[in-house]
Amino acid sequence: KVVAVIMVGGPTKGTRFRPLSLNVAKPLFPLAGKPMVHHPISACKRIPNLAQIYLIGFYEEREFALYVSSISNELKVPVRYLREDKPHGSAGGLYNFRDIIMEDSPSHIFLLNCDVCCSFPLPEMLEAHRRYGGMGTILVIKVSAESASQFGELVADPDTKELLHYTEKPETFVSDLINCGVYVFTPDIFTAIRGVYSQWKDRANLRRLSSFEALQSATRILPTDFVRLDQDILSPLAGKKQLYTYETMDFWEQIKTPGMSVKCSALYLAQFRHTSPHLLAIGDGSKSATIVGDVYIHPSAKVHPTAKIGPNVSISANARIGPGARLISCIILDDVQVMENAVVIHSIVGWKSSIGRWARVQAAGDFNAKLGITILGEAVSVEDEVVVLNSIVLPNKTLNVSVQEEIIL
Ligand code: GDD
Repeated sequence: KVVAVIMVGGPTKGTRFRPLSLNVAKPLFPLAGKPMVHHPISACKRIPNLAQIYLIGFYEEREFALYVSSISNELKVPVRYLREDKPHGSAGGLYNFRDIIMEDSPSHIFLLNCDVCCSFPLPEMLEAHRRYGGMGTILVIKVSAESASQFGELVADPDTKELLHYTEKPETFVSDLINCGVYVFTPDIFTAIRGVYSQWKDRANLRRLSSFEALQSATRILPTDFVRLDQDILSPLAGKKQLYTYETMDFWEQIKTPGMSVKCSALYLAQFRHTSPHLLAIGDGSKSATIVGDVYIHPSAKVHPTAKIGPNVSISANARIGPGARLISCIILDDVQVMENAVVIHSIVGWKSSIGRWARVQAAGDFNAKLGITILGEAVSVEDEVVVLNSIVLPNKTLNVSVQEEIIL
């Protein structure tokens, strides 16, 4: 049997995702109309002999309860949320729940970061891992040398694919091959994490004998119950014939900012063309809106037949899109109202917001820049003919004058 674990983190980790993370846990923010975590979960469906999917995080249970029960029914695979009382690091969190994870006696455990967007080639990784042997296989990808330093950089043997060297977010360039945050391990991973715990305890004990002060500083830098997968496990195991790499040639992005969620929404919509074309909207004649490229429209949303939508638009539940509205590259959340002839481009429009007649909500569409997309928080009201350009608007604001490159608090 095989189990999958998805690390969802917790509220403190989502600060870069504000103001959207004020309303919803970041892993539940919709990309291509489905919660972020839904994409790795539905990819797990392709793993042969999958017994369980676990989400591990330190969000409150109730935030995930509804989603977890509905997705379990939909996939016919049990999905469970396991709550940490506080962050224990990506490896520590996994280790805490080792007894539950091992209940099905799995031969392999997939471990996935929830904030990455890719095609999750999981069965292919498992097959490669069985060929390589060892304790684990890491999904890796080549990126530009300039962007590599935001990730774990690694060196692999070109023939055997063995992981030879690993450095987390190095200051000087090591390699343009990076860690995608998707792994398959044998249960030996738990032995490796236990090894790190006991090493740290030994060190702390030594320090206690030598000096109280040293212990204090040591515990501040390294709380002994916090173990990171990358620095504490992958780095020391590199070059020991334990870890191997599987390179994806497909798309891969990390989702740390709201801007990236618009980009990743586009990638998942494009993937729907192959995996779930029934989820994409089709413009069928004069009775429905004009659809351009890949678009998701929730069945409960109402889009006027004279509106023009796409490419890369996803429209959530109960949204109302008025006559002549034009939407391009945007995420429209639940209960939003877009009035007649309004334009929304490269933007995220928060829950219950409304955009007035002939108003424009727009940005340049540089997904990595701070104000590269316009974000309206929950219940923002943009009045008729107002233009909102490259701006972030916090919840519950009413805009009756145009703004540009501003953060409206
Ligand atoms: N449950 C739980 N508890 N989850 C956690 C914790 C924790 O204490 N700490 C982090 N996570 C989750 C995050 O939500 C995320 O999904 C994943 O674990 C990794 O988060 P970080 O440890 O903050 O690392 P990162 O995202 O900056 O970088 C990692 O992922 C990159 C790929 O996206 C590293 O592994 C990089 O090397 C890698 O390139």
